[in-house]
Amino acid sequence: MCGIVGYIGGKRAVDFLLDGLTKLEYRGYDSAGVAVNCGDNIFIEKSVGRLDSLKEKLKNRLPAGTVGIGHTRWATHGRPSDLNAHPHTDCHGNFVVVHNGIIENFMPLKEELIARGHKFISETDTEVVAHLLEEVYTGDFVSAVREVLNKIEGSYSLVFMSKMHPDVLLCAKQENPLVVGLGKGENFIASDIPAIISYTRDTFILNDGEIAIVKKDSVQVINRQGGLVDKKIFHVSWNAEAAEKGGYEHFMLKEINEQPKAVRDTMSKRIAKDGASIILDELNWDKNFLDGINKIYIVACGTAYHAGLVGKFYIEKLVRKLVEVDLASEYRYRDPIVDDKTLVIVISQSGETSDTLAALKESKRLGAKTLAITNVVGSSIAREAENVIHTWAGPEIAVASTKAYTTQLILMFMLALYMAQTAETISGDELKRLINLLKKIPAQISETLSDVEPIKTFARQYGFNEDVFYIGRSLDYCVALEGALKLKEISYIHAEAYASGELKHGTLALIVEGVPVIALATQKSVYDKTLSNIKEVKARDAIVIGIAAAGDTELEKYLDHVIFVPETDELLIPLLTVVPLQLLAYYAAITRGCDVDKPRNLAKSVTVE
Ligand code: F6R
Repeated sequence: MCGIVGYIGGKRAVDFLLDGLTKLEYRGYDSAGVAVNCGDNIFIEKSVGRLDSLKEKLKNRLPAGTVGIGHTRWATHGRPSDLNAHPHTDCHGNFVVVHNGIIENFMPLKEELIARGHKFISETDTEVVAHLLEEVYTGDFVSAVREVLNKIEGSYSLVFMSKMHPDVLLCAKQENPLVVGLGKGENFIASDIPAIISYTRDTFILNDGEIAIVKKDSVQVINRQGGLVDKKIFHVSWNAEAAEKGGYEHFMLKEINEQPKAVRDTMSKRIAKDGASIILDELNWDKNFLDGINKIYIVACGTAYHAGLVGKFYIEKLVRKLVEVDLASEYRYRDPIVDDKTLVIVISQSGETSDTLAALKESKRLGAKTLAITNVVGSSIAREAENVIHTWAGPEIAVASTKAYTTQLILMFMLALYMAQTAETISGDELKRLINLLKKIPAQISETLSDVEPIKTFARQYGFNEDVFYIGRSLDYCVALEGALKLKEISYIHAEAYASGELKHGTLALIVEGVPVIALATQKSVYDKTLSNIKEVKARDAIVIGIAAAGDTELEKYLDHVIFVPETDELLIPLLTVVPLQLLAYYAAITRGCDVDKPRNLAKSVTVE
């Protein structure tokens, strides 16, 4: 989720580039850079850190050129640094590229290019694009770009600039947003509308597979085969604030809706082409290593802790190793039993949570092997852990975590599959079956997101209740905990999650007429028992909203409201059942007029104890 800007016209390009990048700052980034075509050379400046550092470097030496591109980077391949910041160039500085997304096959391409004599200076996947362009270029810029696009796999929005073609910028889109803003005698390119909204409101929104040929006085859009595409102008009517949220009312809703893409990005590059195994390049564990581990701790806080609870199920079920899940704030003070046969997995979206970081340091001190699952490349936790796997969810801006949670679940599942295939605790057929189901999850999340009306109705009906209970067994209980946390933190409704089997040990006393109970019933292995628990609360006249898998015909016999999610394996269904719970929390908070993105008393990153 980096930011891209481009300018071609009659004015000094760098002024728009810096302003456009500033407008994209809200998305989060760790480094920035610009490139401006100055005739006989392309001026490039980049800097790790905030845009102010880049502006400082450019002070008194702003390039005069009228064609340029700029970028704010959110690191994926390679840590945040000046060298890894975009734009990237080929060996001779003839082609310059900025890129959002992930080039999945960059490693083999890079090896081939190096073997043919290309010199790389960064650790990024993007740099291969510039070197590929250098290789295939024979004088026709557009054909060369089309050829490069045929060689790369993955998701991207790309903008290309060439010293030899100072009158044009080319851009291409695949699964990452890109817009072209249409001006008079000047045109703009951006990954997001806020960057251009104060310059023009007339835009072309590029679709996957399209290439835009952007000149000062014209814009042409072609498809990958070279055929002209007839584009309709999209007039942006949003104000600047709405534009930052991509037209959504809140970042939280935007991030909930980004989940299909976020989980697809998390999986990206990590499933073998034949769908028969998991590739985690970040780990080089073998059977010996795993046989030597006799205990696993998963340590985290808040939502990340809830992802850890699901992770425990995955690893215990698939790898048959004992897993304990601990709150980082407890673990670090309770003298945990840890030695060199212990694997400690910490989960943290921000990579900066102080309790999680301290727990990681304590684990290392005690001799444990450590693995971090985090969203932020170069974060303190990523730097401290022995091994790191990144979720690649893109920046999460709303305080309430949504896409970070689902991407953590995906990674925990892939990690468990990777461990199972390495430790040989899973058959080839079962592995294939689960990978096949995993690949369907992004589309199934989209399907779940499309059925929002009943959830809005429930939120309006029950949004003013002061207590809500969430119940479930097994993995449904783990998701219930996350659903209750979401409701509490953004709507300030008192919400509690209970393992359904615990109801009769105390909580049932609170279930009276009219109390809303959200009952998850997707786990086949405990379905009958869950159903009995649901009948128990229903018999006390609670208002029960069921969450079930498609094809369940039983629950509707007892409940007035059931929300269905698509069918999948019971291990994967938390990725779907959490979605209506996120939406319910969101719409309940809206009903109550709460500040959804910035709930009271909470911060996005908890760097103090
Ligand atoms: C809840 C939420 C928090 C975080 C927790 C850990 O929506 O966002 O509970 O999950 O503060 O944060 P990270 O994952 O950054 O360590």
